[in-house]
Amino acid sequence: MCGIVGYIGAKPASNYLLEGLFRLEYRGYDSAGIAVQSGDTIAVRKKTGRVGQLAELLKASPVTGTHGIGHTRWATHGQPSDNNSHPHTGGNGEVVLVHNGVIENYATLRSQLQELGYVFHSQTDTEVVAHLVAHQLEEELKLGADPDSNATYLRAVELTLKQLKGTYGLGVLFRDKPGLLIAARLGSPLVVGVGKDEHYLASDASPLVGYTDKVVYLNDHEIAMITANSLEILHRDTGSQTPHIRVLEQTASDTELGQFEHYMLKEIFEQPTSIENAFRGRLDDDEATARFGGLNLDPQELRRIDRIVLTACGTSWHAGLVGEYIIEEFARIPVEVEYASELRYRNPPMSERTMVFAITQSGETADTLAAMRECKRKGHPTLAICNVVGSSIAREADGGIYLHAGPEVGVASTKAFTSQVTVLTLLALFMGRIRHLSYPAGQRMIANLRKMPDKIRQTLECHNRVKEIARKYYTAENFLYLGRLHNFPVALEGALKLKEISYIHAEGYPAAEMKHGPIALVDEQTPSVFVVPRCQIYPKVISNMEEVRARRGPIIAIACEGDDKVAELADDVIYVPDVDEYLQPMVTSVPLQLLAYEIALLRGCNVDRPRNLAKSVTVE
Ligand code: F6R
Repeated sequence: MCGIVGYIGAKPASNYLLEGLFRLEYRGYDSAGIAVQSGDTIAVRKKTGRVGQLAELLKASPVTGTHGIGHTRWATHGQPSDNNSHPHTGGNGEVVLVHNGVIENYATLRSQLQELGYVFHSQTDTEVVAHLVAHQLEEELKLGADPDSNATYLRAVELTLKQLKGTYGLGVLFRDKPGLLIAARLGSPLVVGVGKDEHYLASDASPLVGYTDKVVYLNDHEIAMITANSLEILHRDTGSQTPHIRVLEQTASDTELGQFEHYMLKEIFEQPTSIENAFRGRLDDDEATARFGGLNLDPQELRRIDRIVLTACGTSWHAGLVGEYIIEEFARIPVEVEYASELRYRNPPMSERTMVFAITQSGETADTLAAMRECKRKGHPTLAICNVVGSSIAREADGGIYLHAGPEVGVASTKAFTSQVTVLTLLALFMGRIRHLSYPAGQRMIANLRKMPDKIRQTLECHNRVKEIARKYYTAENFLYLGRLHNFPVALEGALKLKEISYIHAEGYPAAEMKHGPIALVDEQTPSVFVVPRCQIYPKVISNMEEVRARRGPIIAIACEGDDKVAELADDVIYVPDVDEYLQPMVTSVPLQLLAYEIALLRGCNVDRPRNLAKSVTVE
């Protein structure tokens, strides 16, 4: 949430800042702004709306300078407006900064600063930080600190951070100290890119691709003092740190749209490959099991595990629900799936034999990170199922499994979901094989998993059919999504996809639960999407369909190829290939992603940048 960029070197700063903001726009698109320093002048340009609008402003009113900061905003405190846009200025312009996160005690600090005479121009929590740094700087200078020393400015930031409650990723410029950029992190990610006589700053590594492949991830409570030629990192408790430089593996082509109109569509069509990448190198035919390089637990430790907690948010939580069914079925270990936002404050009894997995595409979701930390603090093995290499969750977990799905840019998660389900299936196989799952059963799972990329390719052939169906239903204002067993989480996910990108009210339910309330919503204007591939309780789902039909509710069904029975009951059918039940979610979720996409397009919505949302939710 919110994207930060920074540059300090010899090139015009605005080029990288603007391109970086375009690449980070998925983190928030309520407003955008940059500040560029030239000598003791810091020029600020900021604007409500998308980064494209900022680019227009910069054409009309350019800025020059070789260091600067930028920000794309997802509003928390104060509505989207020019005044509330970042960068914010502190004091009389001595300090200019950008911020990602939430300052919880901002109201108290604001009153104190107002009493000292500081004037506020925005409703944001960030402006408090800007004034506070300016105030601390003034105090330091009054006490005789050297205005030419970087240490004076560092101290002003340190004293400020001590007074903040909440989370922050900060990039700070000082009017009277050109050539210095200070960054600080607590709870909101920041990466420093290391170039030759230049440094970059970004909320994640994507803006750095093509500029440098050397990156340093900041940890919580670290401050970076950055000049063109030097990078010094200090930790609040342990002092000066040697920057740990890693090599970035992402390439520019990973985030190009290619032939596709939108990232969401591109990512839906990448699923045969992303699923294959999730199991590539992890299937062990000889031992009929899965192999993971990074679990960091030996088989003895794993055998002792008698309960698994999966924690996540949103779509990743839905993948966790699918995982619960599959792990319990094959590994016979009880699994609970917890909303991370609840788990972080709950105190459920968890024995020393409980293993925790945080499931996350971005690896930066604030609630998932906090829930994982809480479990880790209690001594549970905490692992991550994560897509973004080097993300906070990936780095803090005791071990984990990467999805290798490639960057997911569309705000609505698609390929990450099917990759998470793939990895959870591998985990079920792995945990099953160190317990009760037989060798032939393991072999069957491996053979079936290998077929999945082709099954998804076949599924994607339904795209034209989905377009027709979308045209028929796109004006509906309510949808129900219904499925049972493995396809119940798919129903939840289908409903989430539709509401987040088309703004249509949609509810996902276990099909049989419908009778306990939601059936009251069924009428001729409310389509019900039944996810009804052949399964052990197929006749029961058919009965649920009958109940909807009896009330004249239109029915769209996702069914297995050749299922004529469903065709008799449903108004419209999307056929998918027949696969074993535990693999159905990978297949049945695909037409639902396409349906949401096509409906959103017909309603004129911005599918890649839906309103009010951001890709990476780094605030609570
Ligand atoms: C929905 C969506 C969100 C995310 C959720 C968790 O399409 O993308 O619901 O799934 O914000 O994000 P990660 O997986 O990055 O932790």
